[in-house]
Amino acid sequence: MQAENIIQWFKLYNDKIKENKSYLTELDGPIGDSDHGANMARGMSHVMDALEEETESTPAELLKTIAMQLMSKVGGASGALYGSAFLGMSKAITEDDIQWAEVIDAGIAMIKKRGKSDSGEKTMLDVWVPVQEALHGGSLTREVIEEAVQSTEAMKATKGRASYVGERSIGHTDPGAASSGLLFEAAIEAEVF
Ligand SMILES: Nc1ncnc2c1ncn2[C@@H]1O[C@H](COP(=O)(O)OP(=O)(O)O)[C@@H](O)[C@H]1O
Ligand SMILES: [Mg+2]
Repeated sequence: MQAENIIQWFKLYNDKIKENKSYLTELDGPIGDSDHGANMARGMSHVMDALEEETESTPAELLKTIAMQLMSKVGGASGALYGSAFLGMSKAITEDDIQWAEVIDAGIAMIKKRGKSDSGEKTMLDVWVPVQEALHGGSLTREVIEEAVQSTEAMKATKGRASYVGERSIGHTDPGAASSGLLFEAAIEAEVF
């Protein structure tokens, strides 16, 4: 059951990434190098191919496969960060009844470690952390996700490529925050959590 939900989660995420490919690339223009949409679309195509071979896999095995594809095929900083997050999450699944709040904790710990980053630096973490807090509080809603993505607009980037433009990063939504928003919206739709 959980494995089916995870596969559905990534089918929906793949659809959202494809639909928003140009938008994500547009966001990566003024504060980056205009490749985030293409990076994520390429990575997700490989994830979908790999998942087709995984009909008998456990949730932990599925997340590991997803991690490996994202890490090796997305390219860019986001590939290493998403990949590390899902690898940490795959290792955090220890029981049949998955405690997603705790699994997301493990993902965030990996992003922070790999990215040497924290909340408030205008990155994907500014979506992952509010989602984590909502899950620990018992309810993740679309509003929480939308607000978190939106909150990055006013932030000044201090990590990643966007930090190179310093003050000029203010006023733009972070692309990795936007793609993470799509990830968690897909999770809600697939009834993963
Ligand atoms: N150190 C970091 N910690 C957390 N997230 C980061 C970090 N560096 C970059 N990111 C995320 O990665 C996104 C950029 O992804 P992408 O454009 O695919 O890679 P690149 O920056 O290498 O071109 C940013 O919008 C941000 O959310
Ligand atoms: Mg980029």
